[in-house]
Amino acid sequence: MADNLISSYTQEERIKTLIYSDAADACSHVATEIASLIRTRNEAGKATVLGLATGSTPVRLYRELIRMHREEGLSFQNVITFNLDEYYGLSGDHPESYRRFMQDQLFDHVDLKLENTHVPDGLVEREDVFTSCQTYEEAIRAAGGIDIQILGIGRTGHIGFNEPGSDAQTRTRLVTLDSLTRRDAARDFLGEENVPRHAITMGVGTILDARKLYLLAWGEAKAPVLAESVEGEPTDSIPASFLQQHDDCEFCIDLAAAGHLTRVRYPWLVGPVEWTPEMVRKSVVWLAGKVEKPLLKLTDEDYAENGMADLLTEKGSAYNLNIDLFNITQHTITGWPGGKPNADDSSRPERANPFPKRSLILSPEPMDDVYCLGGTMHRLANQGHDVTVAYATSGNLAVPDPDVRRAIELIMEVGQERENQDDIGFARSVEEQLNAKGQFGEDTRDIRHVKGLIRRGEARSSARLLEIPAGQVRFLDLPFYEEGRYRRFKWGDADVSAMVNLLEELKPHQIFATGLGHDPLSVTSICFEVLRAALNECANSEWISDCRIWLYRGPGAEWDTHEIDMAVPLSPDEFEYKIRGIYQHQTQRSQSPSTLRKSGSDSWNLASQLNRSTAETYDDLGLAEYEAIEGFKLWNADKPE
Ligand code: F6R
Repeated sequence: MADNLISSYTQEERIKTLIYSDAADACSHVATEIASLIRTRNEAGKATVLGLATGSTPVRLYRELIRMHREEGLSFQNVITFNLDEYYGLSGDHPESYRRFMQDQLFDHVDLKLENTHVPDGLVEREDVFTSCQTYEEAIRAAGGIDIQILGIGRTGHIGFNEPGSDAQTRTRLVTLDSLTRRDAARDFLGEENVPRHAITMGVGTILDARKLYLLAWGEAKAPVLAESVEGEPTDSIPASFLQQHDDCEFCIDLAAAGHLTRVRYPWLVGPVEWTPEMVRKSVVWLAGKVEKPLLKLTDEDYAENGMADLLTEKGSAYNLNIDLFNITQHTITGWPGGKPNADDSSRPERANPFPKRSLILSPEPMDDVYCLGGTMHRLANQGHDVTVAYATSGNLAVPDPDVRRAIELIMEVGQERENQDDIGFARSVEEQLNAKGQFGEDTRDIRHVKGLIRRGEARSSARLLEIPAGQVRFLDLPFYEEGRYRRFKWGDADVSAMVNLLEELKPHQIFATGLGHDPLSVTSICFEVLRAALNECANSEWISDCRIWLYRGPGAEWDTHEIDMAVPLSPDEFEYKIRGIYQHQTQRSQSPSTLRKSGSDSWNLASQLNRSTAETYDDLGLAEYEAIEGFKLWNADKPE
């Protein structure tokens, strides 16, 4: 077993699955395999044929291959590539086309010959699609077949763009994209309505013909579909499950993406486990859910019949276990997220002193804060703590153009009324830049600036509702975001030093942050890495020894109950405040009424569902009944996550 593997236990799993502590380790393993094949083939004077994927997942792998080319002389002169897919209707120079993506992420940085790279043609005429797809298949055969195929996986279980319904025999063809896939791409295309409806993709059968397959996956969003692909029956409702039919396929994934595999989620069901306090909590909460009983009503039989007999032996009886777990869960609940002054804090999640605390809420983009912990922020402010909200990035990439037009019209009108030529000139210039960029062009600096200002206004207005003074709302505008675009962000020293400056200035007693377990290329995850690096730089500062870091799960998800160390219940009135706070982020409303109708969800009701469902789980476990709960996990930077 390699050192960087968390475990390679494969019971229950129908595909060889290697779990790595992070994406970087997994990519270095796959890059080493690719490099070794290329070198062997180069020495023999033979070509290597690679099947490539796009999307966020393989970006680190490509960066590692580029590094090997630059630093270790890995040559791609004799490499032929075939990409899995391309959006139908996009030309190769469209910023979101997969051809352009490959040029930017790999081809332009290594010595690949352009004529050796193949990406399906997105502009082929409708009546020529069939022939063009056959020609693609023929080109793969003529090259000798694919030696190594790299795959990502979509939340629908797609590989390439083989959406649910694609069977194992499918070949290269034109397909219709699933609505979830289009929603996932909406951010890149600045709105779901701009995402193409069709794509050309290699078929599942084409993929299965490759001699070796590596599927990569990072982040918790992929965990459910990954577990179904690896552990479920092969089915066309999860096309990735057909990879079970290949005899040389490896899934290389990070721990977050492995989160729903039985060996990670319910390890006591597949073998002996070490009954650490975390494992006991996880298993007993799971048991209560499974047998649908509150904690205090679990019986010896419930434990014995569900693979937990050894735990029972270790702890004596269900009675002891139940009481322990009830107390542990009970003690996570507090209405005092900053600690309750002058109270015994021995069984409270947060310490009583010092009071008031300097609380720092770190929000990757505006709205993540109120969405995930608006109720807690309001509580902290109301309870007299010194609350600062810091927005790591401006979030300007997520503002639709019509909102900018409205803002510049306002600037123009004010300018005209007050005869201010500077304002008028600026508004005109931004308008011209908007007209010039077209639907898919990149935003200029000025446009991004105005978009950032719009989000600042929304963030301030939301903070005001939560009673956080305007002077305590900070905008870091981290450079990695300002200078990048989705999937292409790279963070560095300038980001870390902006974070260090903030921390050293505020010297917080508690920090609320998010990003652990997210897709490593996401804004949320990058912001967390910047925080982690900044904390390391501050390691010798005095304040850090008295600072607690509370993790919120991040937009769109909530901690499982057994992971929560602090549960902040919200009354119906407080919950109302939070939702009103979310409402202030008007540019973040779903842009398309039809999407909203179909998914039935917008940020505010998704946030409510999550907080309500945590409260319901506490209720089901036999604890008090609340309207909603926001959950936090205490982060111990020294412990593996
Ligand atoms: C892209 C492709 C897709 C992606 C999948 C995951 O060429 O074939 O199957 O691998 O949609 O996308 P990301 O990596 O962006 O999560």
